[in-house]
Amino acid sequence: MQIKAAGIESARDWDDLVLREHEQTERFRDPPPDEDPWAVMAGNFAPPDRDEADLDPAVPVVETYLDKSDTVIDVGAGGGRLAIPLARRCSRVIAVEPSPAMRARMDSAINHLGVGNVEVVPATWQDADIPVGDHVVCSHVMYAARPILSFMEKVHDHARKRVTVMLRERPPQGNFHELFERLFGEKRIALPAMPEFRRLLKSLDIEYDLHRLEDRPHGVFRSAEAALARSTQRLFLNPGSPNAKRLAELLPTCLVPNRPNGEGVRFKWAEPQRGWLVTWSTE
Ligand SMILES: C[S@@+](CC[C@H](N)C(=O)[O-])C[C@H]1O[C@@H](n2cnc3c(N)ncnc32)[C@H](O)[C@@H]1O
Repeated sequence: MQIKAAGIESARDWDDLVLREHEQTERFRDPPPDEDPWAVMAGNFAPPDRDEADLDPAVPVVETYLDKSDTVIDVGAGGGRLAIPLARRCSRVIAVEPSPAMRARMDSAINHLGVGNVEVVPATWQDADIPVGDHVVCSHVMYAARPILSFMEKVHDHARKRVTVMLRERPPQGNFHELFERLFGEKRIALPAMPEFRRLLKSLDIEYDLHRLEDRPHGVFRSAEAALARSTQRLFLNPGSPNAKRLAELLPTCLVPNRPNGEGVRFKWAEPQRGWLVTWSTE
């Protein structure tokens, strides 16, 4: 990867956004619980069953770029949502995942589904000591990755053939920003997402193919109670804390019935999440 001044500058802007978002989070959050932060959400990142009825729409796109004999490296593989379906489409998957709760979810799926070609590496991408693969996949991980330049260099250098990155147009917490602002009276600093990634790729002279993935409903909940539980968690509050109580009072003024689409409630301002798949050759 050729790194010029423009690349260093846009990477610095990216890192700065991540730092400022984290600094703001720390100022308003409740004390973090001891457990793995992914423990409550790991179930959302489980792979589909053998019938692949709820296969992530990125998988068939990645498949068009894969050879059966390829080794895929999945960076931040979570519960194996992509790693396991991809393992059916290539020779081997190296799934790098630092969260114990996510790894437990992936291990249980590997056993349950009888998958024999996924190797789970318990590390962050920055620390992972793994061999080069053919295709590196990184799905919904980069929003908080820092320093982004060395993260990207490692991704690029570990791919003999291709890199594929999935990101949303807005960061995953996007629909909770308005709630944060109403609760704390301060503009929420957004993590980098697709617009910043496009800028980064341009500054690194990387030419890529772009695929628009399906929009995903977001800011939608099956009930007001579920909305409160998820919002408490997304604003890093502990149930019963003074700010969590203020949130419980505020939230009903922010929700409307989720008509005409379906059951439950949604934020008044809820917008679906627009998903992107970005892929480039490293050959
Ligand atoms: C939103 S989940 C996405 C999981 C999976 N890629 C998917 O699309 O279903 C983000 C995952 O990235 C992992 N992660 C966060 N920072 C990471 C890092 N520096 N290196 C590797 N994985 C990381 C988290 O532990 C988590 O499992």
